[in-house]
Amino acid sequence: MRQTLIAGNWKMNGTLSQAEKYLETLLPQISSLNKNILLAVPFTLLSTMSQRVKGSSLKIGAQNMSDQDMGAFTGEISCSMIQDAGARFVILGHSERRHLQQETDELIHKKLMKAISLHMQPILCVGETLQEKESGEAEKVLHKQLQGALEGLSSEEASRVVLAYEPVWAIGTGVNATPELADAMHKFCRNVLCELFSKEIAELVPILYGGSVKPDNITSFLQKEHIDGALIGGASLDPLSFLRIIQSS
Ligand code: PGA
Repeated sequence: MRQTLIAGNWKMNGTLSQAEKYLETLLPQISSLNKNILLAVPFTLLSTMSQRVKGSSLKIGAQNMSDQDMGAFTGEISCSMIQDAGARFVILGHSERRHLQQETDELIHKKLMKAISLHMQPILCVGETLQEKESGEAEKVLHKQLQGALEGLSSEEASRVVLAYEPVWAIGTGVNATPELADAMHKFCRNVLCELFSKEIAELVPILYGGSVKPDNITSFLQKEHIDGALIGGASLDPLSFLRIIQSS
């Protein structure tokens, strides 16, 4: 059985003092909950926040990492560095990195392999743009992104991946995919996993929906068969709205 995962993504938001206030509000409220809650924060907050959440059901992770181990890569951060700072997972292939930083499927594959080889939990994001959706290419795009990132992994490695389906047109726009559409796309992703690996692996991998998830629509997504959780940007920045989402999961 796949467990429900609720993951926040702060993107480029949050100072140390904001993070401290946030955890002061959130941690007492989740102390008695037995849930899988993840929060991806800027590199600068990894160390302090991961210390602070010890013993709670909240895991802190990173939003990106390099595919390289070390060396002359100015401005890059390696997997061992985020691990050293306390990260328990890493988001890879977020659409903002694919589009704003021109990350390719090939690079995302290298990052994914690196994360897996160092026992870092990856959350692999895939999703089509509005133009791709309107030209009827959404499934083709998802297939290419999944194959590009995952092909070559062993079944055991693939079973350690968490997927997030995040249609680009739904991210930060307030226009979420309908739960029906998201469920159909998740089912499609699961079929691709089945084709690349096996039915058993496809059934094991949690698939999160991301794109304008809010406290008042989370339930409608989680009720769907193929939706195993959510990746939440904007609504994870406010501890009370993130808490409402956690409580509805
Ligand atoms: P959003 O972002 O919830 O603000 O739409 C989701 C994401 O980018 O992961």
